[in-house]
Amino acid sequence: MATQLATHIVTFQLNGRPHAVTVAPLTTLRTALREDLHLHATKAGCGQGGCGSCTVLLDNELVLSCLVPVTLVDGRSVTTLEGIGGPGRLHPLQEAFHDHFAAQCGYCTAGMIMAAKWLLDRNPNPTRAEIQMALAGNLCRCTGYVPIIEAIEDAARRMSKGVKR
Ligand code: FES
Ligand code: FES
Repeated sequence: MATQLATHIVTFQLNGRPHAVTVAPLTTLRTALREDLHLHATKAGCGQGGCGSCTVLLDNELVLSCLVPVTLVDGRSVTTLEGIGGPGRLHPLQEAFHDHFAAQCGYCTAGMIMAAKWLLDRNPNPTRAEIQMALAGNLCRCTGYVPIIEAIEDAARRMSKGVKR
């Protein structure tokens, strides 16, 4: 007789609003975001913690959502790219990535922007070396990284002038 694994109900704040998902054991946060909550900015890359394309904020700290069982976010706060800005209300990082052509295929972009947001929230005026360090866990196969770094520098300047975060 086939056995059925118990499911869990996980409730958490997602982009500032309460959400609940019913998931199988060991479902990752990335899978819950993409398949249960239909938020697709967070990408399904390597699934092994090696590429950074699934980076989100958990209680305002960077995590690789492919490595986080969603049951661990119960009662906590998750922020994805959709939560920091979107059409008609772009975050300065999103505007700067657009203006600097910092995305080609775009697969890394959400993770890059979330890592950059984490950095700028803590260090509004980072050096280029500090930006490079903050992006160390995020791989890009397309851009050569220079437009991404220039976009983050530009976003920092825009934000220092009072452009909305
Ligand atoms: S998909 Fe999570 S690090 Fe690559
Ligand atoms: S833009 Fe393609 S992986 Fe970065």
